[in-house]
Amino acid sequence: MFHLGWFVGNGYSVQSWNRDWAGTDNEDWYSPALYSDAARALERAAFDFMVFQDGLMVPDIFGGSMEADLKFAQEIPRSDPTAMVAILSQVTKNLGYIPTISTSFYPPFMAARMLTTLDQLSSGHAGGNLVTSASDRAAQNFGFDNHHAHDLRYEMAEEWADLVTQLWDSWEPGSVIMDTEKHVFADYTKVHPIEFEGRFYSSRGPLNTPPGPQGRPVISQAGGSPAGREFGARFADVIFCVPNGLDSMRAYREDIHRRMEKYGREPGECKILFMVDPVIGETDQVARDIASARAEAKRSDAYVEEHLSVMSYFSGIDFAAFDLDQPMPDLDGKVNAQQSTMARYQKDAAGKTLRELVIEHNMVATIDLVGSPATVAAKMGEVMEEVGGDGFLLSGPLNRKNIAEITDGLVPELKRLGLTRPRYTKPTLRENLREF
Ligand SMILES: Cc1cc2nc3c(=O)[nH]c(=O)nc-3n(C[C@H](O)[C@H](O)[C@H](O)COP(=O)(O)O)c2cc1C
Repeated sequence: MFHLGWFVGNGYSVQSWNRDWAGTDNEDWYSPALYSDAARALERAAFDFMVFQDGLMVPDIFGGSMEADLKFAQEIPRSDPTAMVAILSQVTKNLGYIPTISTSFYPPFMAARMLTTLDQLSSGHAGGNLVTSASDRAAQNFGFDNHHAHDLRYEMAEEWADLVTQLWDSWEPGSVIMDTEKHVFADYTKVHPIEFEGRFYSSRGPLNTPPGPQGRPVISQAGGSPAGREFGARFADVIFCVPNGLDSMRAYREDIHRRMEKYGREPGECKILFMVDPVIGETDQVARDIASARAEAKRSDAYVEEHLSVMSYFSGIDFAAFDLDQPMPDLDGKVNAQQSTMARYQKDAAGKTLRELVIEHNMVATIDLVGSPATVAAKMGEVMEEVGGDGFLLSGPLNRKNIAEITDGLVPELKRLGLTRPRYTKPTLRENLREF
């Protein structure tokens, strides 16, 4: 069997306000209604978790202005996903929730406390998607002139995660005794200051709240550069990745497993999920027609402009300055933002003009999945057989139609084939992830 996660790629934001199947998104996008409907459906389909993207700035790289980003709602709005997750955790019992947390900008003590609080509220179903953040604008919101250099961010992240882990461990198991006869809540001999003094961070500890049901909330990670992979191999319970095609998927997985060995970790301790965006139709032909219509829609000037603004955000480089009818310039060594994301574009750029690249590049899928529920389910099974792998991160648009196609169309087929869990049997998110 393999695992399923759902990636809310826009974070807590507008979702389909200007697209098909928007529902009431343009009236009540900030209400929890859409997310709680999605959470119930994902739980019915026995998904492991829902993960929320997040960012901490308004981008203005494209054309040197916020205009395109505000127009396209690109990286904005971003309301705080930790608050949303607290609400959603009251709607379901078994689904996991993973908000994105920036190691560069959240003080470790605050993050440790917040994730423990979410773990308590969700009865052991919380995690944090640890990112280092990629933009100077985010850094400037926190008082820095510019963001730290790429690899330094990951060195800081390692220390940050080390410190947060020590805070989570600062209450020994059994420290809360709640002895009503003797009037003792916690045994003071089992709660310890950590006296952490690092290169970048220090904290005395202990944490001022005891661990939730998981002790350490689940950690997920998505950085694909060598430094990002090293960080994931050391700390993550689950890694999300977008390698292109079967060979790259297999290689990515083997690389993470090799890196995990160094830290004395078994492959089963970290699940590697591949991003996909299935296009489902009643029949294979219907699905192919939908996929063609979507590909055609990408030829519009508006789509090209929007995608260029996204690439500007990913790279920190203004793509308005490049000629659309020339190849994408070689950016190797020039990206201080999301390096592996831009390396993926660079690889895909061979033999294409920038315009062709923008129209054809799929940001969120490792393989094409187009067909009826039965066809796509069978293909997902074959891919897992062939590359190994622990499952998929579904990354399509968050609207009720798309959710239903996956949870009530595709997943019943996956279950019928015995590929995903029929129902939950474990009490926490981490135990669900370790189930197979
Ligand atoms: C599935 C997925 C989710 C991600 N979510 C976020 C996010 O919420 N916020 C963010 O700043 N970066 C996010 N990223 C970007 C990664 O954290 C990372 O910066 C990017 O993959 C490039 O990695 P690298 O700098 O190690 O090459 C995400 C990436 C992927 C593949």
